[in-house]
Amino acid sequence: MRAATPFPPESPLGYSTHPNQPKPGTVYLVGAGPGDPELITLRGLRVLRRATVIVYDRLVHPELLDEAHPDAERIYVGKRPGHHYRIQDQINSILVARAREGHVVVRLKGGDPFVFGRGGEECEVLHDAGVPFEVVPGISSAVSVPAYAGIPVTHRDVSTAFTVVTGHTCDPEANDVDWAALARVGTLVILMGLGRIRQITRRLIEGGRPAETPVAVISRGTTAHQDVVEGTLVDIADRVAHVRPPATIVIGDVVSLRERIAWAAVAHSSDEPEQVAAGALEIATI
Ligand SMILES: C[S@@+](CC[C@H](N)C(=O)[O-])C[C@H]1O[C@@H](n2cnc3c(N)ncnc32)[C@H](O)[C@@H]1O
Repeated sequence: MRAATPFPPESPLGYSTHPNQPKPGTVYLVGAGPGDPELITLRGLRVLRRATVIVYDRLVHPELLDEAHPDAERIYVGKRPGHHYRIQDQINSILVARAREGHVVVRLKGGDPFVFGRGGEECEVLHDAGVPFEVVPGISSAVSVPAYAGIPVTHRDVSTAFTVVTGHTCDPEANDVDWAALARVGTLVILMGLGRIRQITRRLIEGGRPAETPVAVISRGTTAHQDVVEGTLVDIADRVAHVRPPATIVIGDVVSLRERIAWAAVAHSSDEPEQVAAGALEIATI
């Protein structure tokens, strides 16, 4: 008789570091992924299904909320640009109060909680309040939105590095971001930069990045409404006047790989209409 194979098999990663059952009185900062509801992690989904309170952001797909228990309290705390600071204190208070009431609190955030998501700040508040918390990382739009548009952020012989930066603080007169330094990196991924794309591209050209560098602006990436506009550093600002956020800007030669790797459009173009059901699959139709 064969010896039974140990299960799970020995793994260099070892076993899971967290208990499976979410605990009352704890806040779980869960990354919801970039848009396509299927891009949440298994851990994130498990915790979401056990939540008694869900505090969620504007960029969280509504289908994910359907995964939660019908009786779970759903608290929308979507932030509008320019109103972040006033409302963040209220979010912090809700998290602390609901956890102290003994709830399993899920703080559901778009993408990854620690990538321009203020997750670190919320953890600090919870720590200071003595409230236990767990971070469930998510798939950040910084890599997944380009991926759904057929753009690998690194590619051998094309780009060996990528940098993610916020365009939100790109004041052309301020020196808060070293755009000249960013002009020299491999692939540049800019979040929250659509509103300042003209200043950003100008600063990069001034910093030495060639004007003909390929650029893609991907709006509502990974969803049924994904839209991709391509151009160069010198003309992209004019091409995206109609584009609405959320949008991710990718700058660098990897953008040219779309021509052969734009899988979302190619993979389903021959599907029967009934096969193109929802979410990510619908991307193929746009
Ligand atoms: C406040 S940041 C949060 C980023 C998030 N924590 C993450 O890891 O993806 C929001 C920015 O992410 C980008 N973004 C998020 N979802 C996106 C999507 N579905 N398509 C394109 N860009 C997206 C946009 O640049 C948007 O302005």
